[in-house]
Formats: sequence, C-alpha cells, structure tokens
Amino acid sequence: MRKRCIIVAAALLLTGCDGNLSTLTPAGPVASEIALLWWIMLAGSGAITILMIVLVSLSLGRPRATSVRFWTHGMGLAFSMVILTSLLAVGLWIGERILPRDDGAVAVQAHAWQWGWTFTHEGPDGVPVETDDMIHIPAVEPVDVLITSEDVIHAFWVPQLAGKMDAIPGRTNRARLQADEPGQYEGLCAEFCGIGHARMRFSVQAHATWPPDLTSDGAEE
Ligand code: CUA
Repeated sequence: MRKRCIIVAAALLLTGCDGNLSTLTPAGPVASEIALLWWIMLAGSGAITILMIVLVSLSLGRPRATSVRFWTHGMGLAFSMVILTSLLAVGLWIGERILPRDDGAVAVQAHAWQWGWTFTHEGPDGVPVETDDMIHIPAVEPVDVLITSEDVIHAFWVPQLAGKMDAIPGRTNRARLQADEPGQYEGLCAEFCGIGHARMRFSVQAHATWPPDLTSDGAEE
C-alpha cells in the first residue's frame, strides 16, 4: 500500500515538472542550457544526499569497524569537494554561455508595474508599438529583453525560454531569450511584489517574420 502511495505521489510530482511554465520543458537554447544545469545539479546533490544516507545508516545499529580515514578524508572531503567543485565549474560555464552579448540582437522593452506589464517592440514602419501583458519577439533568433520597473522590484520570467531577471526601478537589466519555433509561451512575475503578484502573468508571442504586423490581428502565423 505504502509503495503504491509513493508511486502515485512521485507521478504527481513529476507531472508538476511538465507544461508551459516549466524550466524542464525548454523551448529554446538558453532555457535548454538552464534545464541541463538543473539536471546536473540534481545529480550532484543526489550523490551527496546518498553519501549522507549511507553515513546515517552506518551510525545506526551495533558499532562496527570502519575506516575513519576513508570516511573523513575520502568521502567527507575528497568526494564532496570533487562534486561541489564540479557543480561550481559547470554553473559558471553555463552561466557565462547564456549571458547576452553585443551581437546586434533584436531588443524589446519590458516595463513592470503594480500589477502588470507593458512591452514595447519595433513596429513594421519603425514606430515603436506598445502592448499590455503580451510580449512580441522574433522566433529562432536571440532577443534581448530590456527590463525595468516603475515602482517596486518585480522579476521577468519565461521558464521555457530563459532564466529570471529582476525588474528594478531606475535600472535596466538585460535578459537574453530565444524561442526555437514561432508560437505562444507563458511568462510571469517571479518576485513577490504585493497583493497583485499572482496576477502578473503575461504571454510571449514568437513571430516567424519581424517586425510583426499586429494590425492583422496578430494572426499572421
Ligand atoms: Cu510583480 Cu510579482
């Protein structure tokens, strides 16, 4: 009975990792790097957790002969340091790879407020176009979102396309994201910002042609 409960609970937990607000279903190269980092972190922390479980189980029951040197120097220091150093190195390596670069990528503005988002992108005739709660980006190519806030700290997050970036009043932060295919993705505010925080959701429309012609009702795809 208990085994069945564990299987059902694990299945429910894993289904929570799926869907359009999940880091584990990436839809672009930046998010794929982050998902890879997540799995590597899980493997590393899993290895250390298993070491802890073995140590705790060794401490239970009757005293037995163990090699102190093996457990302190070998597993406690060497094993843990190799795992933690590897995780740090991978984290820095992936972190560096997902940074925005000055390569002339399309830029789109994101303006956060209590409680909503206003986005600005270049229109077909060169005149900036403002949209509420729907950000338009080109598909298949890198995009830099220039993020700011007019009141408190919010955070811009589209889990399937990139990591989180804070929206800070008086500052412009740059986040790089990329969608592999045209389509719609979901985003949200990822920093508690008051009573309306949960309502700060938005959508991302990735277009095959850029700049998009929204006068055709955004239905060109
Ligand atoms: Cu804005 Cu939370």
